Amino acid sequence: MENISYSTIKEIEEIEILRNKSSFNYTYDQATIESLKKHFALKDSLYILAKSNENFVAFCSTDRGWWEDNYFFIREILVDPNFQKLGLGQELMKRCIDHAKKSGAIGIVTETAFENIPMQKLCAKFQFQEWANPQWKEGITYKLMF
Ligand SMILES: CC(C)(COP(=O)(O)OP(=O)(O)OC[C@H]1O[C@@H](n2cnc3c(N)ncnc32)[C@H](O)[C@@H]1OP(=O)(O)O)[C@@H](O)C(=O)NCCC(=O)NCCS
Repeated sequence: MENISYSTIKEIEEIEILRNKSSFNYTYDQATIESLKKHFALKDSLYILAKSNENFVAFCSTDRGWWEDNYFFIREILVDPNFQKLGLGQELMKRCIDHAKKSGAIGIVTETAFENIPMQKLCAKFQFQEWANPQWKEGITYKLMF
């Protein structure tokens, strides 16, 4: 897409750009920022920013903080409402999946709310399968095996 530039977060302080960013009923509050900072420190974490003319438009992160061995977890994905349905979410998700594959993972996991239809459709596009997660029943867990 035109005018969109992608970069990766290299320093933990840069995560602050995400504070209070929101989309639908989803907001990067203090707890989310703290969680992102904690998982940023893990080996092989990938935090991708998308900007248009230097302005924030989207973010996606993946890290190894999943409890099953050698999986990546897509922890966050958020596209600014003015930039949705343009393929950005798909592009960011693809980059995270490619990164997990290149890093030698056996699969990648993500979780979403039962009512989050856009995220469910996005996961279906990549052939994620619903997985009966013994540790989380409050939403849908998706797995994609490599
Ligand atoms: C989920 C989200 C990241 C998708 O981002 P996006 O850039 O709009 O998605 P894309 O344009 O790449 O769309 C990819 C696919 O997702 C699905 N999708 C995206 N938005 C959708 C919507 N509003 N309704 C239904 N399906 C949707 C479609 O299958 C779409 O493919 P298609 O265009 O060929 O139909 C975005 O809706 C978002 O930021 N939501 C709020 C934050 C959030 O819920 N994050 C996930 C928390 S688990």
